[in-house]
Amino acid sequence: MPVNAMYPGTFDPITLGHEDLVRRAALLFDHVVVAIAANTGSKVPMFSVDERVDMARVALDDIDNVEVTRYNGLTVDFARQRNLRVIVRGLRAVSDFEYEFQLANMNRHLTDEVETAFLTPTEKFNFISSSLVREVAELGGDISEFVSPLVKQALLDRIGQR
Ligand code: COA
Repeated sequence: MPVNAMYPGTFDPITLGHEDLVRRAALLFDHVVVAIAANTGSKVPMFSVDERVDMARVALDDIDNVEVTRYNGLTVDFARQRNLRVIVRGLRAVSDFEYEFQLANMNRHLTDEVETAFLTPTEKFNFISSSLVREVAELGGDISEFVSPLVKQALLDRIGQR
């Protein structure tokens, strides 16, 4: 039976660290849905959900078994609707663990039909986060090593419009 997975997140914007994780997941699972949350809780995103989806689609266009889509509501509800049995999350450092452990346990409490699997990105992306990349770009730093060229341009354009 095929095992399909989802990689949920805000992706504001997608970084090379996220891309690395998607590529690893695509080797393990039959189909991977990169699910971009429309409701971002307390985070006020720089990019609209449609912009975040478009950037991720371009960045991941070369991987056949990966789909990028937006979703609303609970991650586990989306997983169940789409028959995605695994939620993939990245662990970059010990500091990620506590939050991820809470998320995974809450999701398990909500349903026992979906399992969480943790992957680690390559070490050179361990320190990247979307908010740090946005901050470095806003302050004039070079972000070429952290995001794809399209995402870099989108960030510079957005900052230039402010
Ligand atoms: N490479 C680079 N950066 C990474 C990364 C990786 N491999 N893995 C995580 N990150 C960064 C992200 O860029 C982000 O950085 P930021 O906070 O600076 O923006 C941070 O780590 C975590 O973000 P992300 O992975 O996008 O997750 P999130 O915490 O923004 O999203 C959801 C969490 C959307 C999955 C969660 O809130 C959710 O499930 N929401 C839907 C509603 C729901 O079901 N709520 C109940 C949850 S139990």
